[in-house]
This record gives sequence, C-alpha cells and structure tokens, in this order.
Amino acid sequence: MSATDSVVFLANYPLRAHNTFGFDVRARLACRIERPEQFALAARDARAAGMRTLVLGSGSNIVFTDDFDGLAMIVELTGKRLVREDDEAWYVRAHAGENWHAFVAWTLSMGWPGLENLALIPGTVGAAPIQNIGAYGLEMCERFASLEAVELATGARAEFDANACRFGYRDSVFKREGRERFAIVSVTFRLPKAWTPRVDYADLARELDARGVAPTPQAVFDAVVAVRRAKLPDPLVLGNAGSFFKNPVVDASTLEALRESSPDIVAYRQADGRAKLAAGWLIDRCGWKGRALGAAAVHERQALVLVNRGGATGADVLALARAIQADVRERFGVELEPEPLVI
Ligand code: EPU
Repeated sequence: MSATDSVVFLANYPLRAHNTFGFDVRARLACRIERPEQFALAARDARAAGMRTLVLGSGSNIVFTDDFDGLAMIVELTGKRLVREDDEAWYVRAHAGENWHAFVAWTLSMGWPGLENLALIPGTVGAAPIQNIGAYGLEMCERFASLEAVELATGARAEFDANACRFGYRDSVFKREGRERFAIVSVTFRLPKAWTPRVDYADLARELDARGVAPTPQAVFDAVVAVRRAKLPDPLVLGNAGSFFKNPVVDASTLEALRESSPDIVAYRQADGRAKLAAGWLIDRCGWKGRALGAAAVHERQALVLVNRGGATGADVLALARAIQADVRERFGVELEPEPLVI
C-alpha cells in the first residue's frame, strides 16, 4: 500500500468544530477524506473493527445527542471547475468538501448565475443534495445535473442523475435507503444561460424593493445575504442547524379546518393542491419564540430555528424540540418532523 492509499485514524476526536450546534462531543475515531479512494478504505477498516461510520461535511444539519461511537469521516475533498458548456447552460462541478456559500459566490464571480437564491446556506457542496437545500423560492434540485458517489462497502463509483436522487422537499434517497450506503464525492450543477431572477418570495421582494436596484444575479445574492443575516443566527456566534423542523404539508381539507380557528395561519399552496404550513408561525403562535429550556432556546427572530445559548447538549435541544412538538400537536393537531439528522 502506498502512502497515498492510506488513511490516518485519530482517536477520541473532538467534534465541537464539526457541528454547527457546537455540541462538545467526540468521535471514537475520525479520519480526513482528502481523496475519494479513502472513503472505502476507511469504511473497510471500520467494518473490520465492528464500527459504524458517519460521513461528515461541516455538520450543519446534525444533532449529536452523545459521543459518536464509530468512525467519523470528515470530508475534505476540494476543487471546482466548469466541466462543460453548450448553447443552453454551463455545467459546473464541485467536490463534496467545498464550502457551499463560497462555491455560490465563485459561480457568480465567474459569470455563471443561477444559485444566488441559495447564498449563505451553511454547509458543504456534498451535503446540499442530501436534503435538497432550498431557500427564497429555489430548491437545489432545480439546478442539479448529476452527482458522483462512492459505495462505501465496495468502493464502486456511481453516477446519480436527478431521478435517481429522488429529490423531494428537504429530502432525497441519501436521507433514506442511501444514507449509510453512499458517500458523495462531487456534484455537477446545470446553470441555464437564459437567466431570469427568482424574486417572488415576499422577504426577498421586499429587500430588493427597499434597495431600489434592478434584480441582477449579484443584487439577488446581496439581498438574500441581507435577509438571512437579519433573521437567521450565525452558527459561529450562536450554535444552530438552521430550521429545526420541516414545514408540514397538509391536505386542503385540513387547511380549511385550521383556517376556521386560525384565519391568519400562514400556508403556501402546493402544485398538488396540498398546503405547506409555516412551522415557524405555528411555533410562534404557541408562544415559543425566544423561550428557553435550559441552555437550548428558540431563536428570537425565527421560531423555526433552535439555538444553543452556550453549553447545551443535543439532549437539551431534543427535549426542547419535543416540548414544542407536543404544544403544536395539541393546539393545531399538526405533527412537526425534525429536519436535521439525529445521531
Ligand atoms: N413566521 C412567523 N414566526 C416566526 C417565523 C416565521 O410567524 O418566528 C411566519 C411568517 O409569516 C413568515 C413565514 O412564517 O413569513 C415563513 O417564514 P420564513 O420566510 O422565515 O421561512 P420558513 O418557512 O420559516 C423556510 C426554510 C428556510 C429558508 C426560508 C426562506 C424550511 C424548513 N425552512 O423557512 O430554510 O431559508 O424558508 O426560503 O423549509 C433551513 O432549511 O435550514 C432553512 C433555514
């Protein structure tokens, strides 16, 4: 085995800087993945030792309730480039360990717009397809071309197109059957040359209006950054994992019934006739905004975001989440489903 084929294992590895909640937990073992081949090598050794594995980007969508008794594979695959261009689109590929926001900013600086609505989302490129990140009227799947993954058990490389990824709202095959099976190596985006601004989302439209500027890609990017900074806590300052719950989708008759008792409920009609409820509104209405349970709290400006005020554990955050779920269930009869992965 040559040196470049090997993996360095680190014992009792601190994960505090590898999860945006800032929980002070450790992994029994950790390794850095700097080349795709290392995924299967590391997974093989973990298997031989009877240990489970966890592929970790920057930990922006994860809640550790305890130390991780397994091997954490920290993805540090970098590199990004234009792989193809035709009359209709640019195809841009980035490795999984690239920072998402820096990647979005880079595509704009290169003159390839299309991802600007997804500016400032914490996390890595490789994590983006797992939960099909979305914000301000755009979901990642709308700009997705394909991804390359490696099957951990065999080391085989596999290409996934959008169909194979089975994208849904904050969902993909990698959150389900593919979860412990594949690691994402790189993602290729298709950025259409016929660019049109996506500025229907109320907060974004208001911000652009207030700025009185034409909606160029850079103006949309700047406005998204400003809106996010105003509402969402910076994980480096206040630990969090973005929205803690998905916005629940209910059928039309449920929405009608809810409207009877809560005429001002915030809901968005879906193409299939169902409605997506603003979970932040439901939580807010239950009086949870800004409230704390120990060191875990509900963010003051966005009730959908749970935060670590300092020294909270994953168990504290889960206890808070359960209390919120119980209240929302009792008051509205609606079930809130957590968005981050709980380990
Ligand atoms: N609202 C309240 N009180 C609150 C929060 C929200 O009443 O404390 C109501 C307001 O009426 C507001 C509406 O809910 O207009 C929607 O709130 P917001 O625009 O902040 O969006 P969201 O539905 O709460 C979703 C995503 C965010 C994404 C924003 C913008 C999910 C689970 N969350 O939040 O994504 O940034 O839309 O597109 O879909 C994430 O996934 O981590 C995330 C931050």
